Amino acid sequence: MSGTPFTIAEYEARARDLLPDAAFNTLFGTEGGRTWRTNSANIAAFDALPLRPRVMAGIAERRLATTVLGQEIALPVMAAPSGSHQRVHSEGEVATARGTHAAGSVMILSTISNFSIEEVAAAGEGPNWFQCYVLRDREMTADLVRRAEAAGYGAVVLTVDNIAGRLGGQERLRLYRYSWATEVETSKTLERDRILRNFAAYRGDRHFERQSLIEHFDAALGWDDLDWLRSVTSLPIVIKGIQTAEDAIRAADHGAAAVVVSNHGGTIAELDGQPGSLLALPEVVAAVGGRIEVYVDGGIRRGKDVLKALALGAQAVLIGRAVQWGLAVDGSDGVAEVFAILRRELDSAMGLCGVADVRDVPRGLVGPLPGGSLAADLERLAALHATGHLTEAEFSTAKDRVLRS
Ligand SMILES: Cc1cc2nc3c(=O)[nH]c(=O)nc-3n(C[C@H](O)[C@H](O)[C@H](O)COP(=O)(O)O)c2cc1C
Repeated sequence: MSGTPFTIAEYEARARDLLPDAAFNTLFGTEGGRTWRTNSANIAAFDALPLRPRVMAGIAERRLATTVLGQEIALPVMAAPSGSHQRVHSEGEVATARGTHAAGSVMILSTISNFSIEEVAAAGEGPNWFQCYVLRDREMTADLVRRAEAAGYGAVVLTVDNIAGRLGGQERLRLYRYSWATEVETSKTLERDRILRNFAAYRGDRHFERQSLIEHFDAALGWDDLDWLRSVTSLPIVIKGIQTAEDAIRAADHGAAAVVVSNHGGTIAELDGQPGSLLALPEVVAAVGGRIEVYVDGGIRRGKDVLKALALGAQAVLIGRAVQWGLAVDGSDGVAEVFAILRRELDSAMGLCGVADVRDVPRGLVGPLPGGSLAADLERLAALHATGHLTEAEFSTAKDRVLRS
């Protein structure tokens, strides 16, 4: 294999060659490996969903541009927040931002980054969103969010799916003999003083270590805390890590502007064996009934995967691993190239399926989800209505949506 990779799979293979085995297996997973079944399920869910291509549609040009929370993006794919990019490339999140912006999309910066909120804002030329965790130290949380707002970030992405766990990936660290404490020694690119760079601004015992970060998450976070977060920022809030209609409705009721249907890329070992995140997308879309935007991530490796997510009602998708693999192989150019691959594959898949515009992908473009049925969808909505999660009007809109699909 030589020259520029042609597929995400080629980027994955090159990144695997470049990084130490222990690091690659702990961060990104092994095919079919113990603790990585949900990652495999994420990918398999996209493959199992059949496309129903429409031929001879008479379409010469496809439109890939769309908007997310009013922000124009060149294709419906954003860079998911993922931690510590300097672990795979010396230019870390600065290069990720540049590559993502060159592709015309949004970079979502993780709290756990090696370049600070301000450094990434200064380096890039495009839109950034900031992913945060609510920490037990509320003042510090508010300060991080205010720093992002001051630096021009366009949204706060609140990740909620991994905060209540307490094992923090220990099983995987043991399994693959990897340790955060020695990652500086094993990485060729990571600088010690860049670990948890966003926290360098806070001194003394507030400048904590990578391995203890999980203890600082507010594991008792509740929906009312979203009201608190909204009180400290005027930025729109995206809730990342939703897997049920019930929680999507809660998010919308508490003023979230969007949700990301996600299982954290199958990285939460305690819940390993969960099905692909794509399977939760239809019920979330039906439940919020257009009140807020819905994105999805987990297992997107091909342009046709993006098309399937849009057909099920997602406004856009996020890519996690693929971005880091592009970064590992070729810095900002690699990141831009990963987006370019998805762009040309999506464009081609749209042509083959008779779709002219990413903003208008019909539900009928995909067949039934494995294990899903119209009756089950309706039953689920009726249950949500009966338990007071959906008002009469919301139930009726959601029901129409399912019946029209
Ligand atoms: C190595 C790694 C680090 C991650 N770090 C974070 C993080 O700091 N914050 C976050 O919200 N999600 C994090 N995620 C989850 C991603 O945002 C995203 O949900 C996931 O990677 C999507 O699946 P994919 O990798 O199959 O595209 C991480 C995922 C990986 C693989």
